[in-house]
Amino acid sequence: IKVLAVASEIHPLIKTGGLADVVGALPGALKRYDVAVTTVIPGYPAVLAANEKWETVAKLPSFFGGRTTIKRGAANGLNLFVVDAPHLFNRPGNPYTDKDGRDWLDNPQRYGALSSAAAEICHGLVADYRPDIVHVHDWQAALTLAYLNYAEGPRPKSVITVHNLAFQGQYPRSILGSLALPQRSFSVEGVEYYGMIGFLKAGLHFADRITTVSPRYATEIQTAEAGMGLEGLLAGRSDVLSGIVNGIDDSEWNPATDTKLAVNYDAKSLAKRAGNREALEKRFGLDHDNSPLFCLVSRLTWQKGIDIMAETVPHLVAHGARFALLGSGDKELEGIFRQATYQYPGRVGAVFGFDEALSHLMFGGGDMTLVPSRFEPCGLTQLYGLRYGCIPVVARVGGLSDTIVDANDAALTLKAATGVQFQPITGAMLQEGISRAIALYRDKTVWQAMQKRGMGLDLSWTSRASAYAKLYKDLLK
Ligand code: ADP
Ligand code: GLC
Repeated sequence: IKVLAVASEIHPLIKTGGLADVVGALPGALKRYDVAVTTVIPGYPAVLAANEKWETVAKLPSFFGGRTTIKRGAANGLNLFVVDAPHLFNRPGNPYTDKDGRDWLDNPQRYGALSSAAAEICHGLVADYRPDIVHVHDWQAALTLAYLNYAEGPRPKSVITVHNLAFQGQYPRSILGSLALPQRSFSVEGVEYYGMIGFLKAGLHFADRITTVSPRYATEIQTAEAGMGLEGLLAGRSDVLSGIVNGIDDSEWNPATDTKLAVNYDAKSLAKRAGNREALEKRFGLDHDNSPLFCLVSRLTWQKGIDIMAETVPHLVAHGARFALLGSGDKELEGIFRQATYQYPGRVGAVFGFDEALSHLMFGGGDMTLVPSRFEPCGLTQLYGLRYGCIPVVARVGGLSDTIVDANDAALTLKAATGVQFQPITGAMLQEGISRAIALYRDKTVWQAMQKRGMGLDLSWTSRASAYAKLYKDLLK
């Protein structure tokens, strides 16, 4: 089966979050199910630099306001079509924002162009390539399905995966022309969404199948509480909507072989984690002692409950624990944590920025992985925490709820617990979760059993990808 994936990020070439991890790992995992994925990706500088010998397979002299070529090639084992449109994508840094963190004003045209190019590839723009299925990820790629709908010619079957409903790509009607969409597309049966153009809405409307990244999130988004305005459409399409939990890339996320760790270890040599912990203490300027070390790796945003975490830092410190934060995003939140590092020297440390290698070290040396999200489609850091014996302490929402078994009395008796969950998502309940985790940590036997249980789970894409392979096969029946 030939699948054309369309996305705005792909690890290891360009990443701002879990979307990149998923888009980067799925193609490799799908190979064993006879699914061949090629991914369409914007020609950001980091992408173009990943291969020295791109082959130009199509030229579009005037495309979204500039000269564009479609390049084909491989990088890091990924087969790619790159939309090389320098006027849209030749900008350094974060793919979506300028250096001050403001969205590029032409984001709708940039991702309209990505989507339009993908639709043209589906229609034979590249002479020897036609996909059986087009699989688009999130709002940046969703318009592909609208372009396909309004063009002549046979269409591949389509899948849209929602990684995060909070980002929908909504823009004023006035830009319709700049997206090269026909006037008639502006209707409820098209791209119209509350009087605006809705990229994600259009994708959800036109897709043959809708998936999201956990079963619980698939249910949550059909309600007003989590549907962010799209609950009606999603509930109306519940017959084609399903949740498939994300996996992790075992070749990159394996504490026994991970080259980003100071010391490698496995479930039989947990004591070696101390070497990573020491490296973390140095890096974050933390005291060297035996108190529990809570870690948090995240975008600093409202979704992730980072403000709730900030409120809870004094409680964590008062209970004798230490806290290390790696994050980037909201500058105000950064300021609050910077302040906390001054207020609690040796107990609270923070690194602001995006640092892939340091994130590995945190799971490899930390005792707990905190994930206090208000909503979470799947979440990956709790999975990395499980894999590395860094016990997850998570909010009971979305994929966090699906992937962690709370250490309540019943689960402890059944030897099934893998972490701590709390709800509702408030400072008081996060405090309660942290206190519970600290109490568990003090009982070494129970703690190590939980670590080993998490490390022994099969979280790999190799098994999770089979659900996507089945979906594709069902679609082509
Ligand atoms: P989301 O995609 O909503 O940000 P996920 O948990 O699915 O949340 O994925 C986040 C990914 O980004 C994980 O791989 C996590 O380790 C990584 N990540 C987030 N912030 C940082 C950071 N500041 N430095 C390094 N990695 C980060
Ligand atoms: C999104 C979600 C996150 C999910 C990731 C990958 O960014 O916020 O929960 O794990 O996509 O699917």
